[in-house]
Amino acid sequence: MTTHSQRGSMQTAILTGLAIGVAVIAGTLTLTGGNETGADGYPDAATEEYGRRLLRDTSLYIGPNHDDTAMRYSGTDMACASCHLEIGTKPGTLSLLSSAPKYPRDSGRDGGIRDLRDRINGCMQRSMNGKPLPRDSIEIMAMERYIIGLNGQYEVMGASNRISDEQAVFVEPNRRADPEAGRIVYENRCQVCHGADGLGLLATAKPANGYLFPPLWGPDSYNNGAGMNRVLTAARFIKARMPLGQADLTDDETFDVSAYINSKPRPIKANLDVDFPDRTRKHVDSPYPPYADDFPQDQHKYGPFQPIREYYESLKNSE
Ligand code: HEC
Ligand code: HEC
Repeated sequence: MTTHSQRGSMQTAILTGLAIGVAVIAGTLTLTGGNETGADGYPDAATEEYGRRLLRDTSLYIGPNHDDTAMRYSGTDMACASCHLEIGTKPGTLSLLSSAPKYPRDSGRDGGIRDLRDRINGCMQRSMNGKPLPRDSIEIMAMERYIIGLNGQYEVMGASNRISDEQAVFVEPNRRADPEAGRIVYENRCQVCHGADGLGLLATAKPANGYLFPPLWGPDSYNNGAGMNRVLTAARFIKARMPLGQADLTDDETFDVSAYINSKPRPIKANLDVDFPDRTRKHVDSPYPPYADDFPQDQHKYGPFQPIREYYESLKNSE
């Protein structure tokens, strides 16, 4: 069972940290605000440091409870760093250290070439269940600049620092994932932090201060169009990173608990049917239709995925 006092004392520690963070923010806002463009093409206000804070304290700057309604872009009080751990600086799963050079690239989901700002807005509209940031906003430019800066750090990192300290990568069992078995894993290994109701725990009484433990389902979670809502994507993340600080689940436990959290209600994204204009490029574990095959939606959601993969491979071979 969740020990509330445990969660409470951690909460106090975070509160103190937040108070310091807010003081720093208040100081910075008065210093920036200029719109002059620097040598590298970014406005002066779009600093890497602002980008770092946007990824760490996302809800404080662009969350759904922002005092200025015009700044409410994210639909959740989660942070980018809820998934991109250590603000994207941790090597391994969902690291942002080597992301920048991959863009622009062809996106199967969008059906065209997309750049880093588009990719950030992909997470804004799905993982963060919100609206896209304007492409010329200080906020998206600061985030982009921060992610480019991370790659600069990565380039000069020694080989040993680039190695992640994760356990072996997730190997998908060739069966349907079992959400009911996953519920037991959840109760034993996840609930202490994420809560019996899966709704997480806010850091303070003010939601804009974000989460101590982010929600895994419910109205403030990622929406059904998010990458994390795919069982295999969630499983890769959970195997590598969760339970936080003690990621030691087996592949079977990981598979089932991923199915369990993604069997729960979450916000619905409109117009998901326009994703993947070429439906044969859709991921085997895309949980929402339409599909270019006759496998039932349940199988796309929970597996087994291997037969779906084999079907598409046989199509390619017969071309
Ligand atoms: C609920 C979890 C979650 C949250 C919150 C989230 N992301 Fe992501 N993000 C993902 C997943 C999953 C991917 C896809 C990784 C893949 O394709 O393998 C991704 C991919 C990305 C990528 C592309 C990385 C690459 O190497 O190609 C960027 C950039 C990114 N996210 C930025 C952000 C930003 C900025 C925010 C906050 C505004 C954010 N994300 C919030 C889960 C999340
Ligand atoms: C010790 C506390 C703790 C435990 C136990 C734990 N988590 Fe987490 N989890 C976190 C924190 C904290 C984050 C946000 C990342 C950060 O702040 O560094 C997180 C983030 C996540 C995320 C991505 C963000 C989101 O809310 O969607 C998922 C998915 C997740 N955890 C799943 C699990 C699962 C499944 C388990 C059990 C196998 C688990 N966690 C156990 C603390 C925990």
